[in-house]
Amino acid sequence: MRWLGFGAAPTVGLRTVRTHSIQQSACRVGSTAINSKPSCARALIGGKTVSVRCLEGRTTPRAVRSARRGVASVTGHRRGRRYLSMTSPHTSESPVGFIGLGIMGHGMAANLVRSGKRLVVWNRTASKAEAFAREHNDDGTRSSSSPPPVQLAQSAREVVERCRFTYSMLTTPEVVRQVHFDPHHGTLQGMAAGKVLVECSTLDAAAMREIHAHVTAHSGRFLEAPVSGSKAPAESGSLIFLCSGDAAAFKELCDGDLAAMGKRSFFFGEQIGGGTHMKLVVNMIMGNMMVALAEGVNLAEACGLSSDSLQQVLQLGAMSCPLFSTKLPKMAQQDYEPNFPLKHQQKDMRLALNLGDEKAVALPTTAAANEVYKRARGMGFADEDCCAVYESAKDRSRTNEAPESVAAVREHASKNYRG
Ligand SMILES: NC(=O)c1ccc[n+]([C@@H]2O[C@H](COP(=O)([O-])OP(=O)(O)OC[C@H]3O[C@@H](n4cnc5c(N)ncnc54)[C@H](OP(=O)(O)O)[C@@H]3O)[C@@H](O)[C@H]2O)c1
Repeated sequence: MRWLGFGAAPTVGLRTVRTHSIQQSACRVGSTAINSKPSCARALIGGKTVSVRCLEGRTTPRAVRSARRGVASVTGHRRGRRYLSMTSPHTSESPVGFIGLGIMGHGMAANLVRSGKRLVVWNRTASKAEAFAREHNDDGTRSSSSPPPVQLAQSAREVVERCRFTYSMLTTPEVVRQVHFDPHHGTLQGMAAGKVLVECSTLDAAAMREIHAHVTAHSGRFLEAPVSGSKAPAESGSLIFLCSGDAAAFKELCDGDLAAMGKRSFFFGEQIGGGTHMKLVVNMIMGNMMVALAEGVNLAEACGLSSDSLQQVLQLGAMSCPLFSTKLPKMAQQDYEPNFPLKHQQKDMRLALNLGDEKAVALPTTAAANEVYKRARGMGFADEDCCAVYESAKDRSRTNEAPESVAAVREHASKNYRG
């Protein structure tokens, strides 16, 4: 047993963490709550959420890191306060499955481990799953007798066979169907009564309904749970979950796994499609904003105005937002290291347009913006960050420049801005 806190002994560190009105029992510290409110965390105790406060309003990065590692229990009193201490960083409950350790899946799965869950993971490229397991199994916090927090599976099927809850974070409807419906190694082959599949990929509602139908046909339960937020929120556990489907599964996960990976979870009803529709609306708005920004930067440049001054003006007005303040400098520096790959943003524009078609809602701006993304894909920027849409938005006729190749852009960026 070791103390959860800022110092080596409770008198030094743990004194600053106090629980409210709780009995001595095991509890897990919610990492997300600590992230979003530095002086207050939530603990799950016997299925009930209670607040855990850091006294003196002080939460150091070290304390947060300690708390995020896992399981704590109330162990004693000192001057009328109750203290939390680490028992074991990982619980004995059944492991959670995770399929797809890409940009988003990696951060999400890491937060599950930090919240005290043991994981069974599978990724198409096995080396990524192996690296993830190494990162978490060899972090120096585990005693030699406790099982490793991350175990590898040989297939998506094996993940579901070994776990009650399995999260899937893949790419397109086509890929998700391939992984779930594979007749030998697919997720559905491991599905059985009592098991739950949580699909976090951004798909269309038809694909979600199809997966739901297959999962329930195999006696399983299904939660549609696409996320809003990119690489950084996935890493810091501040995603927004947009859920529909099995209400009991949502209730069970909302204050546990979803709170470890996100800052807020919405439930749009038992009918499949609500979460996906919200996700597509949100990403359609973001995709249009990005193209508008790219055209604005381009026009400002044509007028001899620097991107820096454009940024300053935008930041002072109603258009001040994290999307513009993070992506504008990246466009100006041609730094397209992917947080949200352009091919995924274009997929979401396409899916939103299909949804507009289905609902007979005209989306002329989105249709035009989609063409700008398609052109960027054609130019070779599919795997770069979505802000590379700037390359496609540039007015080449103004300068008579030939479009730059991806290799030339990377070379330019690394020479001038990456050291
Ligand atoms: N990035 C963001 O900012 C963001 C934000 C919100 C939502 N989303 C959505 O979340 C989903 C994942 O995004 P991401 O950015 O994490 O994507 P990513 O980095 O491209 O990762 C995709 C994952 O899918 C796997 N995959 C791809 N094709 C596969 C196939 N044919 N068979 C099996 N596995 C396959 C990849 O495996 P390998 O490692 O083997 O390639 C990887 O694990 C997408 O639907 C995206 O639209 C992304």
